[in-house]
Amino acid sequence: MNLARLIADMPKAELHLHIEGTLEPELMMQLASRNQVTLPYATVEDIRQAYEFNCLQDFLDVYYLGMSVLLKREDFFDLAWAYLEKMAAQNVTHVEVFFDPQGHTSRGVSFDTVLSGLTDAFDKARRDFGISSKLIMCFLRHLSEEEAFDTLEHACSCKSHIHGVGLDSSENGHPPSKFRRVFAEARDQGFTPVAHAGEEGPPSYVTEALDELHIERIDHGNRALEDPALVKRIADSGMAMTVCPLSNKRLQVVPDLADHPLRLMLNAGICATVNSDDPSYFGGYVNDNYLAVADALGLTHAEIVQLGRNSFIGSFMNDADKRAAVAHFDDFVDKAN
Ligand code: ADE
Ligand code: ZN
Repeated sequence: MNLARLIADMPKAELHLHIEGTLEPELMMQLASRNQVTLPYATVEDIRQAYEFNCLQDFLDVYYLGMSVLLKREDFFDLAWAYLEKMAAQNVTHVEVFFDPQGHTSRGVSFDTVLSGLTDAFDKARRDFGISSKLIMCFLRHLSEEEAFDTLEHACSCKSHIHGVGLDSSENGHPPSKFRRVFAEARDQGFTPVAHAGEEGPPSYVTEALDELHIERIDHGNRALEDPALVKRIADSGMAMTVCPLSNKRLQVVPDLADHPLRLMLNAGICATVNSDDPSYFGGYVNDNYLAVADALGLTHAEIVQLGRNSFIGSFMNDADKRAAVAHFDDFVDKAN
């Protein structure tokens, strides 16, 4: 089987995806018109032209502006449904999806509006496509600890819909330790903790996220590779790292995809996975990420299989579901050989 076919056909999970980052320019324009929101763009082409980023903050400014068109329950449904239809077509069978409630509540959209629109779509995807899902609520790290606590309070009243808590937005200057107490409370309340760390921030932010937030998965983690003891620690722990190649390229985390450390991560024994982060803004969904990085690094059939398998191993599925998903994946690979 050629590698493009393998990537397209293999069952896979996506573990690092911001639902607001799936807002395609066409839907952005449609929702702006439906909700009478004024955008600083006249056309879909204008929107695409704004997607030139030198760093994470450049992207975040455009990302927060884009999400301003999301106001009603059906907007959040339409957003998530458009993503899920694409995932069904890409043979994605399980998704663990971030959402940024503070990007909406700060604009007067209620937490319930956001969550109900999203869960409508994820429930329908399970029924219509057999795609399972878990939602991870992120705290915006450029905001205060107090605001994060307010957000956590909302999540506590709808625990059955939210599996985990995460940490995203502007990394530099906002170390994980700023949210130590919020994460302690979130863990006490039963939420699974993850955090973006080492995307732009130093390796010490990854160590802090492990030691102070007690995260169970590392989002990005690229800069952990600068610290060999940390690499060994991550590999020995078996903890997954959610790697986002096209994001890394577009946000200049790597100068070129050919310099991407994905193979180094695998060779170091890290449970690395491939994900799309904010596919509308970074030029590709999960299969596009596999293809681009496989091309740039010359990944082998065995490496692609490892990455696909890791996507289930590194997921937060319960043990029985994970065993079944890995068995299904292995069966696919056996038959494809
Ligand atoms: N929010 C959405 N995408 C993000 C990323 N790649 N890093 C930090 N925060 C984000
Ligand atoms: Zn991300």
